[in-house]
Amino acid sequence: MTDYTTIKTTSKGPRFTITINRPDALNALNETVLEEIEEALLENLDADQHRVIIFEGAGEKAFVAGADIAGMKEMTPDHAHEFAQLGQSIGNIIATLPVVTIAKVRGFALGGGCELAMACDLIVAGKSARFGQPEVNLGLVAGFGGTQRLVKRVGLHLAMDMLLTGKGRMISGEEAFQVGLASRVVDDDKLDTEIDKIVDAIVKTGPMAVAETKRLVRDAQHMSLDAGLAAEAAAFALCFSRDESKEGIDAFLSKRTPKFMQD
Ligand code: HXC
Repeated sequence: MTDYTTIKTTSKGPRFTITINRPDALNALNETVLEEIEEALLENLDADQHRVIIFEGAGEKAFVAGADIAGMKEMTPDHAHEFAQLGQSIGNIIATLPVVTIAKVRGFALGGGCELAMACDLIVAGKSARFGQPEVNLGLVAGFGGTQRLVKRVGLHLAMDMLLTGKGRMISGEEAFQVGLASRVVDDDKLDTEIDKIVDAIVKTGPMAVAETKRLVRDAQHMSLDAGLAAEAAAFALCFSRDESKEGIDAFLSKRTPKFMQD
């Protein structure tokens, strides 16, 4: 594994974990962190081995407390534009990877941290989680996708509340689960066990079926129903040209565990 300065990566069987490792700055995202995440995703991820990517923050206090505020002090408008685009492009890479991405959120997930979590397919929140978009408290707008992804996740009214009142409306792990921002919420000390359960479930599924499902669900957010249904029927048909579906169906009918391989 490559040596990084601001993140740690671990590869264990089907899981690839990226730990943002700046606990003294509550894992704030500067350009180095973003570039290292991008490199880890593009260069170290093995699509034949890894089925799940987990993002987590080092330490107990924060997943990620946002973009690095000190690093933004001297930013020019051009630099800020590039910085926003860098964070957004990493969000898009995460959202379009053909494997399942999970944000494991303990403590603060603020600003860019909430945005990083929202780029993931699943957010598994500890009860200590605090989600928020406090950019307006700094005289900024959200820049890594918050104004777009939050409204799609939680609807207009809560998104407006969180984005317009900033620190005035942070939400807990429990509330994030209730409003559909987090997929699951558990006590902090159960986070790893809960993620183990998800990984155990994913490894029993067909990799191509999961990749296609992720694509269809993501695309549903910006497609008409008719176009989305046509894409779904085409993807369903494509399954039948693959060994993966033959194996899944045969295994069920033979009462055995399927052995899925990438076609
Ligand atoms: C840099 C940060 C940081 C951040 C915390 N720290 N958040 N450093 N960038 N986003 C540092 C603090 O300066 C401090 O360093 C240490 O982490 C511990 O933080 P404290 O403030 O002492 O902790 P606490 O009192 O518990 O308060 C926790 C907190 C607060 C509520 C999370 O730190 C906070 O409000 N952080 C900023 C949150 C924020 O505004 N995020 C949005 C950023 S803008 P020292 O050296 O003093 O110990 C953003 C834009 C994204 O995300 C889009 C960009 C294009």
